[in-house]
Amino acid sequence: MFKKEVYTDRRSRLKKEVKSGVGLFLGNVDAAFNYPANQYHFRQDSHFLYFFGLQNPGFAGVIDFDNGKDYIFGNDFDIDDIIWMGVQPKVKDLAAKAGIENTAAYGELAKFIADAKYQGRDIHYLPAYRGETVIELSQLLGLANADVKPGASVELIKAVVRLKEIKSEEEIAEIEKAIDIAYEMHTTSMKMAMPGVVEQKIAGTIEGISLALGGPVSFPIILSQDGQTLHNHNHSNILEVGRMMVTDAGAETRECYASDITRTVPVGGKFNERQAEIYQIVLDANMGAIAAIKPGIKYRDVHFIAARIIIEGLKKAGLMKGDTDEALKAEAHTLFMPHGLGHQMGMDVHDMEGFGEDYVGYDENTRRATTFGTAYLRLGKELKPGLVLTVEPGIYFIPDLIDQFRSEGKFMDFVNYDKLETYKDFGGIRIEDDILVTQEGNRVLGKPIPKTIAEVETLMAR
Ligand code: GLY
Ligand code: MN
Ligand code: MN
Repeated sequence: MFKKEVYTDRRSRLKKEVKSGVGLFLGNVDAAFNYPANQYHFRQDSHFLYFFGLQNPGFAGVIDFDNGKDYIFGNDFDIDDIIWMGVQPKVKDLAAKAGIENTAAYGELAKFIADAKYQGRDIHYLPAYRGETVIELSQLLGLANADVKPGASVELIKAVVRLKEIKSEEEIAEIEKAIDIAYEMHTTSMKMAMPGVVEQKIAGTIEGISLALGGPVSFPIILSQDGQTLHNHNHSNILEVGRMMVTDAGAETRECYASDITRTVPVGGKFNERQAEIYQIVLDANMGAIAAIKPGIKYRDVHFIAARIIIEGLKKAGLMKGDTDEALKAEAHTLFMPHGLGHQMGMDVHDMEGFGEDYVGYDENTRRATTFGTAYLRLGKELKPGLVLTVEPGIYFIPDLIDQFRSEGKFMDFVNYDKLETYKDFGGIRIEDDILVTQEGNRVLGKPIPKTIAEVETLMAR
C-alpha cells in the first residue's frame, strides 16, 4: 500500500470533479473456483484499490461529495476467520492507513444507501464486471439486475478517467517493477524456445516467474508458434524449427499494476531470411511509432504511422504493391494487422476498459472508426504527459482471412495474393513495449528486453 496521503489526495481530487451525491465503490468479494470454500486468488477491484488502497475482500468505500466525508464499510475478522486465516488488523486500523476515520460494519451500508436514496441524492457507481457486484448493486439500489449497467454514473466514469489516466511517480515506479518482472519472463521464454519443447512448459515456467517475483500474470499468457491467432491461449504445440514463437505476457505487482510485453522469436534461435525480413518490418513499425509519441499527437495518427511502415515494408518484401497512400486510405494493411496499435495501461492491463473503451481511449475530438481492423484500435485520442500506453504492431498471416479477402476481391490493387499464398505457414509476429508519454516526448519503461535481431539471437545462443 502507498502512504495514506496518496489515497487522501486521490479522493480529494475526485471530490473536485464530482459535484454532488454519494460515490459508492464496491470492492471485490472472494470468488468460488469449483466449490464455495475453494476460491480464486483474490484480486481487488482496481478502482476501489485506487481510491481506498485496501486489498481485503468484502469491503465497500463511500465518498460523500456533499460534505466531503469518506467511509469504509467492512467486517472485522471473527474467531472462526482468525483460526483459519490468522489475526488481521481491525477495519478501523486498515481504514486509517487510507486516511479514513469513518468505518462501519458491512451490514450498515444498505441503510446508508437507503437513507441517501430517500433524501433524493444521486448514488454514483462505476460499471460492474462481476456477477456478484451486479447482484449487490441491484440489492443496495433497488434495481433490477438488467438496470444496473445502464445506471452507472457517466459523470463518475469521466471523472475517474481524468484522474487515473495520468500516472503519478509512484505508479510509474510500480509499472516499471511489473516490466522488470516481465523482463525475466520474456528472456526465460526466449531461451526456452527450442525445437521439441512443448509450449505449455514455457508458459507455465514464466507464469511461475510472475508469481515468484510479484503477483499473478496481468492477463492469461498468450504463447504460441501459431502467432497468427492473436490471443492464442492454447499451449499444446511442440516447437519446430522454421516457426516463430509469440510470447505476449505481463505481470502484476503487489499493488496490482500491470506490464504487457510481447516478443517473437525464431524457434531454435536463428532467424531465417524470410523471418528476418518480416520481423524487421514489425520492429521498424514498433520503433517508428515509439519515436512519434509525444504530447499533442493523436494516437490514431501514431497507429497509421506504424501502418505506413508496414505497407512500405511489405511492398519491399513483394507482398503488397501499389501506391502507399492509397493502400493506407483503403486500410489494406488490416489484412496483415487486423488490430489496433495499443491501449492505455495501469492497474488494468487494458486500463479502465470496463468503463467502455470510448470513455477511455477516445474523446469529443476523436471518434472511433467503424472500419474492419481499425475499429479494434482501443486508443485514438490526443496524447498528454502522464499517459502510459502500449505500442504493439504486428504482421500476421491468417490463412482464413487471406482466403476470405481474396475471394471477395478485396485489396486486389494492393496485395500480391499469389506470393502471399506461400506465407500461409508463417504464423505471426508482434512486438510490444510499454511507454510513458512525457513533456518532452516519451520514455520506454522498464529494463530493455532484447528486441533487435542481433539482440534476440545473442540471448538465445546463451
Ligand atoms: N495482452 C493483450 C494485449 O496486448 O493487448
Ligand atoms: Mn500484450
Ligand atoms: Mn497490449
